[in-house]
Amino acid sequence: MGEPVSQTPPSESGGGFKRGMWSSRTGFILAAAGSAIGLGNIWKFPYIAGVNGGGAFVLIYLVAIVLVGYPIMLAELVIGRNTQASPVVAFGKLAGPESKWKMLGWLGVLTGFIILSYYSVVAGWALNYVLMSVCDFLSNKSPEQISSLFDKLYVAGDINLFWHTLFMLLTIGIVFGGVKKGIERWARILMPMLFLIMLILVARVVFLPGFVRGVSFVFAPNFDKLTAAGVLEAVGHAFFTLSLGMGAMLTYGSYLSKKTDLVKASAVVCSLDLIIALMSCLIIFPIVFSFGFEPDQGPGLVFKTIPVVLSQIAGGELLAILFFLLLAFAALTSSISLLEVVTSHFIDSFGWSRKKATLIPGLLILLFGIPSALAGGGGLFSSWESIVGKNFFDTVDYLATNWMLPLGGILIAIFIGWFAPLERIKDEFQTGSKFKHIFIVWLWAIRVIVPIVMVVVLLYKVRILDL
Ligand code: TRP
Repeated sequence: MGEPVSQTPPSESGGGFKRGMWSSRTGFILAAAGSAIGLGNIWKFPYIAGVNGGGAFVLIYLVAIVLVGYPIMLAELVIGRNTQASPVVAFGKLAGPESKWKMLGWLGVLTGFIILSYYSVVAGWALNYVLMSVCDFLSNKSPEQISSLFDKLYVAGDINLFWHTLFMLLTIGIVFGGVKKGIERWARILMPMLFLIMLILVARVVFLPGFVRGVSFVFAPNFDKLTAAGVLEAVGHAFFTLSLGMGAMLTYGSYLSKKTDLVKASAVVCSLDLIIALMSCLIIFPIVFSFGFEPDQGPGLVFKTIPVVLSQIAGGELLAILFFLLLAFAALTSSISLLEVVTSHFIDSFGWSRKKATLIPGLLILLFGIPSALAGGGGLFSSWESIVGKNFFDTVDYLATNWMLPLGGILIAIFIGWFAPLERIKDEFQTGSKFKHIFIVWLWAIRVIVPIVMVVVLLYKVRILDL
């Protein structure tokens, strides 16, 4: 189990590119969990749960993962493994080379491009916090002082730009060399370490006075605070956190062997992702309530809370360095999956070399991320917010998570449920699986439940439906 990956030879896909394969089921699980677990779990989930009142939001999110996320993850893996190709070519293979469904692949590539452009800015914040911890800038500060540091960073456009550039170059560097060898090996060591540090933090917050309040905020559903918009956000986030709706899992699935049980592997990836998201809340909210913070602080939440508790425990400095380093690393194993979709698209569809297909899109993403990096400081497009209603960063995040990923998700479900060759899908689903009988349940979930849920979500968004 789980040796580093061998670059085994080619698939039928275009470009003469030797398609890599995961070495083992564990190798795939690590890479897929690496893609899923990232800033979405540790940075975003707690803050959107906080903004939406906590428990009830968490509950809806759980339902969204089971009813929508899990079936779509399976669908993406089935398509990827069956076609052994990145999204555009994959839909072409299943629907015919002239088919309009290929546009769905293009939508995915575009979505990956957009998400990575601002994802990298957030990852840059984590890098900045690594440096702050190394420079011992977080210790001996009051909770208020610590939280004001983030507010300063948020508006410091030049500094954000610096970290954004560095993080994008790191991402490009790894995808450039082929994702699988390096990342899979590092993920094996670093992901468990992240988990361990989070366990230490959970153990510490248990003794805080606000622990019980924090836990009940996360687990006791209070439906008063939940709005319809919150429900939509929960569904959108289910896509984001599981890396669904744009072909990332599809692409990773294309490197999978026929021996892997897709039903089981997807369940494992979803569960790992969920555990990290819940742990993150379990750490953050007790800190919030113990030190008199508000739970609905928005994007700075994790950066404002975790250092507070770390500044108070023995060895906290070292833990802070490790925590933010591992957070940046979790972001990296996700960002490479975003870039990998774009890169493998240019390789498969246009026969570009891996180098060219990494560098050109990577640098364009770096450029496109600049207004996001400068969003807080009003540097570039300073009147954007007064014209669009959200700053540039929030705008692209909103568009990608609330529109593009759900749209991609519903179209994938409709395609696979109603238009793709059924026998072929069924075969692929059942190959290597002990849970063959689940197929029919999954099929109807994909045909009916997912589209209905998603159509309701989208109709509400365009105000046709008034909840
Ligand atoms: N899932 C990652 C996170 O939670 C982000 C991510 C990586 C992603 N690849 C993706 C989101 C593809 C959407 C689609 O941080």
